[in-house]
Amino acid sequence: MRIAVVGATGLVGREMLTVLAERGFGNDEIIASASERSVGKEIAFANRTLTVQSVNQAIAARPDYAIFSAGASASREYAPRFVEAGTTVIDNSSAWRKVPEIPLVVPEINIDAAVQAIKQSSNQAIIIANPNCSTIQMVLAISALEREYGIRRLVISTYQSITGTGIKAVRQLEAEEHGEHPDEMAYPYEIHRNLFPHGGDFQPDGYTTEEQKLVDETRKIFSDPSIQITATVVRVPVVGGHSEAVNVELRRDYDLDEVRRLIAATPGVKLYDDPGQNIYPMPILSHHRDEVWVGRLRRDYSLPNSLNLWVVADNIRKGAATNAVQIMERLVKF
Ligand SMILES: NC(=O)c1ccc[n+]([C@@H]2O[C@H](COP(=O)([O-])OP(=O)(O)OC[C@H]3O[C@@H](n4cnc5c(N)ncnc54)[C@H](OP(=O)(O)O)[C@@H]3O)[C@@H](O)[C@H]2O)c1
Repeated sequence: MRIAVVGATGLVGREMLTVLAERGFGNDEIIASASERSVGKEIAFANRTLTVQSVNQAIAARPDYAIFSAGASASREYAPRFVEAGTTVIDNSSAWRKVPEIPLVVPEINIDAAVQAIKQSSNQAIIIANPNCSTIQMVLAISALEREYGIRRLVISTYQSITGTGIKAVRQLEAEEHGEHPDEMAYPYEIHRNLFPHGGDFQPDGYTTEEQKLVDETRKIFSDPSIQITATVVRVPVVGGHSEAVNVELRRDYDLDEVRRLIAATPGVKLYDDPGQNIYPMPILSHHRDEVWVGRLRRDYSLPNSLNLWVVADNIRKGAATNAVQIMERLVKF
């Protein structure tokens, strides 16, 4: 296999290389690619060193797959050119997620959407969109509930790690932790010892783009535009993962023990829920791990058929790199 990683010098791209090496792609041909600024730089991969190539060089190599984490404008510019060259693109940016014919995939839930799209394509090469990090962990946690009971409404509050904003945000927090002023601010305010109800850009209706992604992407992945969803995204000075308080209204009543069994049996999900023993998910537990952690599972007595849960996952792993590599793994097997 020949695999291009576009954005290989970034937070997600570096994790992609780690995940590829961990998951058995260490002996495959890996093309590390980034912006012109980084061409010629060296990056460690498995037990060798890769030299960063330009995106044009990566396209010319006609890889089997290109996994992108280089931002939306690079994806819009280069992903179609890879597809023309016969390469299937798995894209981490927001560029393609809302395009109806582009599959938006969490492999445990809807890999079939990608398989069907490849079958219908003229040259067996397509663009597949990786959902937003906060969406991936939430939909995976509740996927069995959607299947068994149907979901009527979701109320989501997120507590999102600064790693979700890329390397610039990590540098900002580290500088502020040392009492220094960062060279470049990723956020409009100090994030150390602070938080803000602001992720992405504000839309005219007062919601942010990160909040809107949770609405649009959840409906698309579950193929159910009738699910009612409202979200508040909060950025917190945390590394290691995003946390989410999720209130779920199901379409019919449920048995809490059955819900517990369903969540515990969902591949990729770890039920970690024993409040009496202070057992609940936290970002320090999810850091560098692939599981989506679920805890604080309890009935919502204020509304029939509803419950609360707390969902935590490493946004760089299952929220980005791992999900993308898992999509590729599944496609390789078909
Ligand atoms: N962080 C997360 O939790 C997360 C989760 C899901 C999705 N994503 C998405 O993944 C993408 C990258 O995020 P990140 O956190 O890894 O950001 P980052 O740390 O800022 O890295 C950005 C990467 O993109 C490359 N790049 C920028 N412009 C490019 C261009 N014109 N052509 C080729 N490469 C270019 C950069 O290369 P240079 O080093 O040469 O500048 C770098 O490798 C974004 O679209 C983001 O929305 C991030």
